[in-house]
Amino acid sequence: MSNTIVIRNNEVDIPVDKNEIFKAGKLFQEMMMIYNCAIREVKTKLEVLNDEFSVRYQRNPIEFINSRIKKPESIYDKLKRKNLEISLDSIRNNLNDVAGIRVICSFVEDIYFIADALIKQDDIRLVEVKDYIQNPKPNGYRSLHLIVEVPVFFTDRKEPIRVEVQIRTIAMDFWASLEHELKYKKNLENTEEISRELLECANIISETDYRMQSIFHKIQKKEERFALFLSINV
Ligand code: GTP
Ligand code: MG
Repeated sequence: MSNTIVIRNNEVDIPVDKNEIFKAGKLFQEMMMIYNCAIREVKTKLEVLNDEFSVRYQRNPIEFINSRIKKPESIYDKLKRKNLEISLDSIRNNLNDVAGIRVICSFVEDIYFIADALIKQDDIRLVEVKDYIQNPKPNGYRSLHLIVEVPVFFTDRKEPIRVEVQIRTIAMDFWASLEHELKYKKNLENTEEISRELLECANIISETDYRMQSIFHKIQKKEERFALFLSINV
């Protein structure tokens, strides 16, 4: 009994060797470190694109970038919810959003520009695209979701790691934050009315996003927007 620990996980008590727990903990920690490195790789790529764009066109297509590693309890909950095995291999094979990056852009066209430029890079493998801008969710959610695989180099090996990249405008992000609150509020009496209002706002926001872009096009004609770039190239 001296080196066994009993874990209570609601269902059964599992006697586990203490050393096994330490080993598993260490491997989990290493896995999270690798996901963190993958985030840094992709984030740097996005920052480089933003810097290049800002020198060429004198504005930033990216307003800001957020990133996060999925919390251990959320990883556990998601595997359970999907009836998947709880193991490191299972995390690696089944979850695409352990590493997550959110890119907030000024205009809708910037979203596609950034996505395109990222996907084109020859060390990035595109695993999946979900275009919730062209095809919004029924609740009104809009965003471009990419799952990409990026190689992370270590002393003795190279590993392809999956990262979820969500790209959206400031307005879409504002909407998603408020809508997200709704998911966690239980016992609300007027959920239906709130959902209807949110959907209405999502549609107004989308229309406004495109109007803002078209105003921008009127203010800065294409030639002007590309002037610096052209003058460098002649
Ligand atoms: P999971 O939802 O992660 O199981 O995977 P999925 O395959 O359904 O992915 P999807 O691309 O639909 O959503 C991934 C992520 O996008 C979510 O974890 C949220 O961060 C975000 N998202 C998707 N739908 C919504 C939505 O309706 N509202 C908000 N606020 N965020 C959303
Ligand atoms: Mg989902």
